[in-house]
Amino acid sequence: MPEPLTQQASFINWFRDSSPYIHAHRNKTFVIFFGGESVQSKSFANHVHDFALLNSLGIRLVLVHGIRPQIEQRLKKNNQHSTFVGPHRITDSTTLQYVKESAGHARVEIEALLSMGLANSPMSGAKIKVTSGNFVTAKPIGILKGTDFCFTGRVRRIDSTAINAHLQNHNVVLISPIGYSPTGEVFNLSAEEVATDVAIALQADKLILMTEENCLNETTQHLIPQLTVSEASVLLTNASDHSLKPSLTAAIKACQKNVDRVHLINRHLEGGLLLELFSRNGVGTLISANSYEKLRTATTHDIPGILELIRPLEAENKLIARSREHIEIDIENYSILERDGLIIGCIALNTFPHTTIAEVACLAVHPDYQHAARGQQLLAHTLTQAKQNKIRQVIAFSTQSSHWFFEQGFLEIDLEAIAEIGIKPQQIERKAKILHKQIS
Ligand SMILES: CC(C)(COP(=O)(O)OP(=O)(O)OC[C@H]1O[C@@H](n2cnc3c(N)ncnc32)[C@H](O)[C@@H]1OP(=O)(O)O)[C@@H](O)C(=O)NCCC(=O)NCCS
Repeated sequence: MPEPLTQQASFINWFRDSSPYIHAHRNKTFVIFFGGESVQSKSFANHVHDFALLNSLGIRLVLVHGIRPQIEQRLKKNNQHSTFVGPHRITDSTTLQYVKESAGHARVEIEALLSMGLANSPMSGAKIKVTSGNFVTAKPIGILKGTDFCFTGRVRRIDSTAINAHLQNHNVVLISPIGYSPTGEVFNLSAEEVATDVAIALQADKLILMTEENCLNETTQHLIPQLTVSEASVLLTNASDHSLKPSLTAAIKACQKNVDRVHLINRHLEGGLLLELFSRNGVGTLISANSYEKLRTATTHDIPGILELIRPLEAENKLIARSREHIEIDIENYSILERDGLIIGCIALNTFPHTTIAEVACLAVHPDYQHAARGQQLLAHTLTQAKQNKIRQVIAFSTQSSHWFFEQGFLEIDLEAIAEIGIKPQQIERKAKILHKQIS
């Protein structure tokens, strides 16, 4: 029986809305950390299906899993316990045995789920290839303040060349929190640290940390959607017993070492990973080194994103129609506002030879991001560029946004006032108002 139209329509809208993200994420490298609690949870199969989907969409995927509860359970079963110093477990030789068992067991479970291919399941036809190996070289923490950490180690080196080779072959790389020393010893490592160092070594596009809870504002108890590194550092300092401490520490380190984006996503939220990666506002906390929006000069790679932004506005006659070729020829005149790989705003500055007049053109901000001064930001950026290029006057043509330009100090003028420049016949045909601003 066909689905009701509204459901079909919402499905179509959802699919179309997610398509820019599918393009933006393709061939990008994501490192995803999830704890041992996640591996044991009932919903873990769903997480694995989501990982498989990301792999099918051309994302280069490295998975790093934790094993803390698995080690705890083995210790308990044998009436033993281990001591922690700060976040580090002291791994004696008996505990190391449980670490190896836990890592081996978890890896087999994950590989099995990634190998599933039952018809009528989300994994049908997925045919995922998984690789694990000795990618992590470790060294002992050693003896600190008289305490010997035994087989608890730190990452010494990540074999990024080997990992990249597997990613190149479209394999999912699965890494356990275990490292090997050149002397042949095995070390128990923090999974968050391994994920962070892998993301840094690969210069991954994203480090994604699946957490046990949301990153909340302590006063309002609302989810914090974005944090800069300095804001994350303040959060970490003020809340010393914060359960997200290892994740925040990992995020700060990764951002400081040039990993562009770190996402904290509550693993309990069904489909959280997909919602965060394929919807406009996401459901997690995005931590980035700088502001998560970048205003920069466009390149030819940005043309599909620019077209996607301006096509609906051309259809409404808010912007003059431009062909792909036209944009390509003038691409260095364009500036774009980029947010997490998506183009959410653009503007162009077209000069006229032998004059000190330039045209501010193709100004657009995506409807989801309007009313937050982004239009002003784009205009201010372009006016600065104009000034640097010794432009004295700027004009703009507008059919429906003239009042916006008035508020930015533009005045309406007649065609005769700018007779020295050749106006395109299309601007005259669409009866656009001519707006003018003197640059001081
Ligand atoms: C014009 C445009 C770029 C403004 O982007 P923006 O990021 O929302 O702009 P700002 O946040 O800097 O300014 C928002 C203010 O401008 C007002 N505004 C936005 N569009 C307007 C319009 N067409 N006419 C009058 N005022 C407008 C908003 O109401 C808001 O004011 P408020 O906060 O008092 O409500 C955006 O609306 C857009 O992309 N429009 C479609 C394309 C277009 O017309 N481009 C100009 C032709 S070159």
